[in-house]
Amino acid sequence: MADRAFVVAANWKMYKSPTEAVAYLKEFLPQAKELGLELGRKKVIFFVPAIDLWVVQQTLRGSAVGWGAQNCYFEKQGAFTGETSPQVLAEITAPSCLVGHSERRTLFHEVDEMLAKKVRVLQEVGIEPMLCVGETLEEREKGLTGDVIRRQLREGLKLRDASKPLMLAYEPVWAIGTGRVATPAQANEAHVILRAEMRAIGGDEFADRTPILYGGSVKPDNAAEIAAQPEVDGFLVGGASLQVESFLALCRAGKR
Ligand code: PGA
Repeated sequence: MADRAFVVAANWKMYKSPTEAVAYLKEFLPQAKELGLELGRKKVIFFVPAIDLWVVQQTLRGSAVGWGAQNCYFEKQGAFTGETSPQVLAEITAPSCLVGHSERRTLFHEVDEMLAKKVRVLQEVGIEPMLCVGETLEEREKGLTGDVIRRQLREGLKLRDASKPLMLAYEPVWAIGTGRVATPAQANEAHVILRAEMRAIGGDEFADRTPILYGGSVKPDNAAEIAAQPEVDGFLVGGASLQVESFLALCRAGKR
């Protein structure tokens, strides 16, 4: 197996005020020491609401814990009321940013073309994008899973800078926030498809170094068997990331 770190990422969605974020991280940080993050075999990232980014940066700087935004606009800055500027994210040293989470795709009508531009602009300002892909229940039942995630991957990476890193997250839409988790075999199968597509798009080195996280109802009681799948390089966690205790359990469950 290629030498990839195991990445455990929290997606807080539209939860936690700045005060709550700081309280959480102050409880999390001392307990995270035992995870050995400084060795680089495991990474932890918090994707927080935009309004919390500044205090999260202040709280986490100097630690080995990563953080970032859940979304940004595809221009560096400008007259785009209500959007988050990638350039400002870079100025406050955000290491990563989610792109194309299924809630952005379905509730906010984000399309592949837009997401490709977001990947590009984030790489330009030095932020590592985490592109999310995943099929709906209807698409899975019609046997379209492979076609859908291959298309989302290809289109989303169309403008990428091949010299810069990125991460992927496979999140079947039917498993997000539903308590209905993909079986470890289903998760692995999708990751195999994505890895092969990455190989076709960018060659072995790209496919081997790029982590693919699984997301969708990951909880402490199902994490170990999902993590044990050879092509699963981490978790992207919504609900179970909101409490320190359960998120720490997921950080510990990650292999490597
Ligand atoms: P969930 O969310 O863990 O609550 O299913 C995952 C996500 O949306 O990233």
